[in-house]
Amino acid sequence: MDIFYPKKRRIMQLLILAVLTVFFAITPAAQADMVQVGEPIVTPGWDLSLPSIAETYKDYFMIGNVMSTYQTTDGELTAMYKHHYNLVTAENDMKPQYLSPVKGLYYFINADTLIRWAEANNIKVHGHTLVWHSQSAAWLTTGADGNPLTRAEARANMEEYITNVAGHFRGKVISWDVVNEAFADGSGLPADWKDALRKDSPWYLAYENGADQSKGESGADYIYDAFVFTRLTDPEATLFYNDYNETDSWKREAMAMMAEELNAKWKTDKRNTQPDRLLIEVLGMQAHYWTASLNVYAVEAAITRFIKAGVKVAVTELDIPYGSWTNQHSTPLTEEEELLQARLYAQLFKVYKQYAPHIERVSFWGKADSQSWRAKGSPLLFDRTFAAKQAYYAVIDPEGFLRANP
Ligand code: XIL
Repeated sequence: MDIFYPKKRRIMQLLILAVLTVFFAITPAAQADMVQVGEPIVTPGWDLSLPSIAETYKDYFMIGNVMSTYQTTDGELTAMYKHHYNLVTAENDMKPQYLSPVKGLYYFINADTLIRWAEANNIKVHGHTLVWHSQSAAWLTTGADGNPLTRAEARANMEEYITNVAGHFRGKVISWDVVNEAFADGSGLPADWKDALRKDSPWYLAYENGADQSKGESGADYIYDAFVFTRLTDPEATLFYNDYNETDSWKREAMAMMAEELNAKWKTDKRNTQPDRLLIEVLGMQAHYWTASLNVYAVEAAITRFIKAGVKVAVTELDIPYGSWTNQHSTPLTEEEELLQARLYAQLFKVYKQYAPHIERVSFWGKADSQSWRAKGSPLLFDRTFAAKQAYYAVIDPEGFLRANP
């Protein structure tokens, strides 16, 4: 019989203390993520027997998603993509940073691989994006000393870049996000849309450098130039302005005012050979929402404001992570949370269907939660095992879903 000496007991106590310390040092979120004893290990797999999203919406609008070139060799992913989507946006591969990292060099190999994949699978391609303050190429706008180029230099670079890039992809893309995210965060309702622009964008700064204010020139002029260069290079492509927080009343107003003004200007521009055609044809709603703050009435208000501006509307980057910007979620969703998220997807698609004649497409920004740029909030229709979430069923039949889950 073992006698429990005080010394041995002290060692046991220390051991238990050490185990408990390690256990509580792991965050509750990480504990929740650990595989539970008895929980089956699921190999992710796509279920192709589910109704196709694109087929469900074939009489309403195109349904898109994102791809990266490295994913194009994945046969199962490709089969799933063809099943659910008829449009693709390159998640990163067609951004200036990757297409032309230094002046004079154009690197099209990755984007071309993605485009060949799309062609082989009968999927249309949306070009994303030509002019943006982020993931851009410094040579376009900024000197070696870090200072903005002059207006004339930046304009020449923009023309060179757009002529090369939109020229290369001419006939291969159906549309372009010509300018992305030009408006600042948290402005008020502007009297002039130009006041609400992101003044620290390297494009704005360069165009401001040498602008003749007496002629009404300003940093804002880069936007019109970008659309005109793209139209002249690829007249077949539909041209988009794309932005996020488009549901904020000031931003939807600024976006609409910009489209109205630049479209009016284009009407009398000597370079315009199609007087009945708009320059900015589509306002893209990125639709990067949060479950905590998404207001479907504000989505509808943005859609109706854009229609009033005379343009078409596109939902370009839809995802709805659980939580909010300041309170992000970090575990897989509970059933209740999944349901709340799904109801929002159902409400959104109900609105999209209602305005379908004006809506050009709805594109999601990610295929499965684990692959999302905002994976933490499990924002998409398919979970990390690629199984359909409640949100998928909500999208497939929004009215039925809301009736069953009021
Ligand atoms: C994101 C990609 O999803 C990420 O992989 C990348 O690291 C950063 O950019 N608005 C846009 C998209 O227009 O290009 C962004 O994509 C998401 C926000």
